[in-house]
Amino acid sequence: MTMAPTHGIATAEDISYWRSEFPIVESCTYLVSHSLGAMPRRTSVYLQQFADQWSSRGVRAWHEGWWEIGRETGNILAPILGVEKNTISMHQNVTVAQGIVGSCFTFDGPRRNIVMSSLEFPSNHYLYEGFRRYGAEIVYVPSADAIRLDTDRFIEAIDERTALVPLSFVLFKSAFITDVKAVIDRAHRVGARVVVDAYQGAGTVPMDLAAWNADFAVGGSVKWLCGGPGAGYLYVRPDLARALKPALVGWAAHESPFEFATGEIRYAGSPERFQSGTPNVPSLFSARAGYEIVASIGVPAIRRRSLQLTRRLIDGAQAAGFRLNTPTDDRERGGSVVIDVSARNLRTDEGQRVADELIRRNVIVDYRPGAGIRMAPHFYNTEEEIDHAIATLSEIAAASV
Ligand SMILES: Cc1ncc(COP(=O)(O)O)c(C=O)c1O
Repeated sequence: MTMAPTHGIATAEDISYWRSEFPIVESCTYLVSHSLGAMPRRTSVYLQQFADQWSSRGVRAWHEGWWEIGRETGNILAPILGVEKNTISMHQNVTVAQGIVGSCFTFDGPRRNIVMSSLEFPSNHYLYEGFRRYGAEIVYVPSADAIRLDTDRFIEAIDERTALVPLSFVLFKSAFITDVKAVIDRAHRVGARVVVDAYQGAGTVPMDLAAWNADFAVGGSVKWLCGGPGAGYLYVRPDLARALKPALVGWAAHESPFEFATGEIRYAGSPERFQSGTPNVPSLFSARAGYEIVASIGVPAIRRRSLQLTRRLIDGAQAAGFRLNTPTDDRERGGSVVIDVSARNLRTDEGQRVADELIRRNVIVDYRPGAGIRMAPHFYNTEEEIDHAIATLSEIAAASV
């Protein structure tokens, strides 16, 4: 049996080892890790462990690891995000995590603005729009090209009236990498807080959230972390965490939850004070394998490999005559490439049909309206798969003319 590489992915042998850890790559060309990362083989082992514990230990399992599993899971994730251990709480998804952040603030004084890019993931808009009923004003900053965040324009919108700035590190539609550090610096100069949505970066683009002085970060495990659904995370900067009192809390956030004291909560320390109710135990078992693998390879090594593959994808797509709705400069691009089929005599709205046909031919990708066909290689993909995807896309386009 081949041994797991001790660090990084440097050789073809390492890649074939990691491929053998992800069964789905044997049956299709899996290029959709920006949406649902492939399931690691050892996820089945961890899920079986959960079932065995529930089955054999019953309620005793809570005090044999289940109660602490959120903090432990967050600790595996911490180096991937570039934060200290014991600073992450686990939640169902990004919406819930952002809801908890929003519930730490009031929006009825002069500092009531929430500044967001028009290119944010829709949930972030939907959630904060709901805060208008508590007095929040939402300030949307438009994008000139629907690909990039204009940092100067964005920063100008942040002032003394700004309470919160939710900002994606990598934009979901175009894979553009935003200048999170510049935004945090500006926000802190005027007393505002930044919530980094790390989802599209975590596990494929290195992040140093503590060094950037991020106030909050949220994300989930479904994509590049290969952790499956139901394991969202919330990082809160430790000095800030101690002072915050989220309104969206439950008994798991109490300093002595098993006292079952009624009335006003006495907050636990961090990160548990951001907890809601019963932890999402099976999802946290499922998330572990992906986190362990990503942490053991290391995000810088994953990034180097990702750039080799996305560069090949871009060159191939451009040579075949497709237009890209993604930055071509490596420094500006996260892990996915967005291909607009309209340049090949297809109407833009035919992107969904072309994506469906790619999937029918076993090249697994997705399509986002207003963006295009998204393809996302991860550390388990090969050059041959990239070439096959472009060749298949070209065949479909040629047949459609
Ligand atoms: C940047 C970003 N934020 C948030 C979400 C949604 O997260 P959740 O479903 O965990 O609320 C996504 C999902 O695609 C995303 O890409």
